[in-house]
Amino acid sequence: MLAKRVSHIKPAPTLALTAKVSQLKAQGVDIIGFGAGEPDFDTPDFIKSACEKALKDGRTKYAPSAGIPELRQALAEKLLRENKVEYKPSEIVVSAGAKMALFLIMLAFLEEGDEVLLPSPYWVSYPEQILLCGARVVEVPLKEEEGFVLRAELLREYITPKTKMLILNSPSNPTGAVVPEEELTKIAELCVERNILIVSDECYEAFLYDGEKFVSPASLSKEVREITFTVNAFSKTFSMTGWRVGYVACPERYAKVLADLNSQSISNATTFAQYGALEALKNPQSKEFVKNMKEAFERRRNLAYELLREIPQVSLIKPKGAFYIFPNLSHYSQKLGSDLKLADYLIEKGRVACVPGSAFGAEGYMRLSYCVSEETIREGIRRLKEALVSLL
Ligand SMILES: Cc1ncc(COP(=O)(O)O)c(C=O)c1O
Repeated sequence: MLAKRVSHIKPAPTLALTAKVSQLKAQGVDIIGFGAGEPDFDTPDFIKSACEKALKDGRTKYAPSAGIPELRQALAEKLLRENKVEYKPSEIVVSAGAKMALFLIMLAFLEEGDEVLLPSPYWVSYPEQILLCGARVVEVPLKEEEGFVLRAELLREYITPKTKMLILNSPSNPTGAVVPEEELTKIAELCVERNILIVSDECYEAFLYDGEKFVSPASLSKEVREITFTVNAFSKTFSMTGWRVGYVACPERYAKVLADLNSQSISNATTFAQYGALEALKNPQSKEFVKNMKEAFERRRNLAYELLREIPQVSLIKPKGAFYIFPNLSHYSQKLGSDLKLADYLIEKGRVACVPGSAFGAEGYMRLSYCVSEETIREGIRRLKEALVSLL
C-alpha cells in the first residue's frame, strides 16, 4: 500500500537515541546521553523577546513563501559580511530549518538515475532525502588517516556522466572535519569543470576551533557561486533548533523554484519564529552569545579528546569544528558483532549513550556530542572507558 519511495525510510537514528535516553531518564535510570545534536544552551532572551513581540503584534498569519522581506534582507547582509558572498534578497529562500531547505533543493534537482556524491561518514538525513527523490547515493569514502577530509582527487574517482550533485558539509557532522580552503578550491573547480551542483551545508560555520576561519565555497569565484547552494540555519549557531528556521541562498532562477516548492508544501517557515531569527542577526548581543558558546565547545572538545585518547585500542581524530567527536571503537564493536550491539551494551552496562557510526555510514565508530557540561563529559567518558575495558 505504501509508496515505493518510503519503503526504505528510517527514523533519524540520532533523534531515536535522544528519545530512548529521555525515556530511561524518566524511568529514573542514571544515564549520560552523548546523542544530542543540539547545543545545551538556551536560546538567548533577546531573541525570545523579539518573537514574543511579534506574536503580540499579530505576526501570526501566513508570510511570503520565501520568507519575510526583512529577514531575507538581513540574511543578504550577513552572507556578504561574514561569508563574503553577494546575494540579493531575491536569491534567498527561508524554510523550516536547514533540513527542509536541503530537501527543497533535492526535490527541485534530483531525478531517477541521477547520482549524488556523498562523502562518508555523512549526516544521517542526506542519503534518506536523496533516495526519497529517486536518485542514487554514491558514497565517497573518507579515510580516518586523512582526518576524514575530502580531497578533490578522491572525488574525481567517483564522478560519472550521471553525477548531478555533491553534498559538502564542512565542519562535518559527525566527524568535525574541516576541508581546508586550498582543497575546497580544488573541489569547487572540479565541480565547475564537470558541471556538478554543490550543496554546501554550513550549519556548523560558527563552531570552528584552533583559530580556523570559515570559507563558503560560493565565495571562491563567480563560477562556483553559480553552481552552489549555500545552506544554513539558526538552529545551531543561535541554539534555536526547535524554531525551525533555516535558509538557502542560490542564483535567483533557482531560488524562485525553491520558493514555489516551499509554498506548495510548508507555505512558509513559521512567521513569528522568523522575527526571532531576524533579531538573532540584528542584535549586537548575538556576537557575544555565539563567541561564549563556541569557547565552551572548544574547551569541551579539548577535554573529550584528551579523555578518549586514554582509552586503550581507540583511535581518534581531533575534530576541528562542529560539536561532535568520532572515536574508532572497532576493536570493541568487533567483539560484540556490530557497533549497534556495542551502543546497546554501553547503554545497558555503562549507562552511557552514543550514536553508532553505522548510522553515518561508518561501522565501528561512535559519535559523541559534547553538548553537555565538562562534568558530564568526565563522568560519561569514565563510564565509557570502564565499560569498554571490561570487554578486553
Ligand atoms: C549537517 C546538518 N545539516 C542540517 C541539520 C538540520 O538542521 P535544522 O535543524 O536547521 O533543520 C543538521 C542537524 O543536526 C546537521 O547536523
